[in-house]
Amino acid sequence: MTPTPFFEDQTNVDKYIASCEGCDGYHLVDTLVSECKVQGVDTAASSVLELGSGPGTDGKYLSSFFKDTLLSDHSSLFVKRLQSLGLSAVTVDASDINLPPASRDVVFSNKVLQHLDFPSFRASFQSQHRLLKEGGLACHSLWYGTDSMMTGTLLHQYHTEETLATAIKGLFTVVSMHRYEEFEPEDSMVVVLKRV
Ligand SMILES: C[S@@+](CC[C@H](N)C(=O)[O-])C[C@H]1O[C@@H](n2cnc3c(N)ncnc32)[C@H](O)[C@@H]1O
Repeated sequence: MTPTPFFEDQTNVDKYIASCEGCDGYHLVDTLVSECKVQGVDTAASSVLELGSGPGTDGKYLSSFFKDTLLSDHSSLFVKRLQSLGLSAVTVDASDINLPPASRDVVFSNKVLQHLDFPSFRASFQSQHRLLKEGGLACHSLWYGTDSMMTGTLLHQYHTEETLATAIKGLFTVVSMHRYEEFEPEDSMVVVLKRV
């Protein structure tokens, strides 16, 4: 029997939402918005897709900057919850984005792509490349390092500059990258990428 995906279990979703109480990725959105200014992307006239929106905290904040904000998640439970909160949300697998090509200016995620194995991680950037308009930006936060672990069926794959460079090769260039603290100093990194 195929095991239930981690975030298709209501108990795991409820526990995750409870653990996020008082947390947000607003500083990541601020980084993205600052880079948009530098890169000449007018957020007030632009569209953004968030991958793996989960509870939707960052997505709501994104919508205060962008003209058109679409939230998404692979988990039907999160998507239903986002929609019940009145947010615009659709089901999207980050490794195979089922939205029209060249239909978004920006893509954002906060601690989502660590759930993909390396082939799917690379496939996600190929899919983001298809989704974005020319010159579009992608901003992602990732756990930093070389660790890899499982929580039940859920993979947590950390990344470094090297693994990221391999995954984005020929698709994106790095606009900015810095380490930050989620729980411990420099345990995370945020990258802003420009579509080639
Ligand atoms: C650690 S949570 C982060 C949620 C949210 N971004 C936040 O900062 O609280 C990971 C999220 O990624 C979603 N996710 C996992 N695998 C995914 C995939 N392949 N495509 C899209 N979302 C995925 C999960 O359902 C969950 O909402």
